[in-house]
Amino acid sequence: MTPEKFTLAILASGRGSNLQAIIDGIEKNSLQAEIGLVISDVKNAFALERAHNHGIECLFLDPKTFPDRKSYEQALVKHIQSKSINLICLAGFMRILGKHFIETFSNQIINIHPSLLPAFPGLNVQKRALEHGARFTGCTVHYVNEEVDSGPIILQAMVPILDDDDESSLSERILEQEHIIYPEAIRLIAEGKLTLSGRRVLHCK
Ligand code: GAR
Repeated sequence: MTPEKFTLAILASGRGSNLQAIIDGIEKNSLQAEIGLVISDVKNAFALERAHNHGIECLFLDPKTFPDRKSYEQALVKHIQSKSINLICLAGFMRILGKHFIETFSNQIINIHPSLLPAFPGLNVQKRALEHGARFTGCTVHYVNEEVDSGPIILQAMVPILDDDDESSLSERILEQEHIIYPEAIRLIAEGKLTLSGRRVLHCK
């Protein structure tokens, strides 16, 4: 690990395709950053294998071995603080993070969510967008605050909902956009191009 590089910790619970998009951005040099650590709360998460395949330090931190959420988060904090991490990226990390974690890394945590927030926060959002009859949905990269899926919005991409879409086809097209905007949002932060003004994230030229 080179100390001067903008260093990421990635938290993921599943297949890790967003993690892969970030790895690809770094390997193609379109993102000047490095991944210092990948942590998963799920033992068999494919994200861990992806990290391992690219020589990235990775760790399964088992929530069942901690008495409560707070102590789990204290362990997460400890592992992240043991590296010089500039930004924590939640990439399909399916746990809600509490006050202690969020205050420790204030404005240093971002998340990707598969809807155009503030529409459809929470779970099963592609299905809910279809059922609602929305004509457009998309994805959002946002800072993480204490309320679920409600921190300041960094980037969004819009995806039209087609008449013959089902949950799977819609999720796939949203995911393509996620893989574009997540590395791009990280690049903007790494290059110091964003400032927060209340809830608004201003993009400097
Ligand atoms: C992505 O669609 C991401 O937006 C979503 O989980 C998926 C993870 O995919 N995250 C959330 O729903 C968080 N609220 P991945 O493991 O292939 O990156």
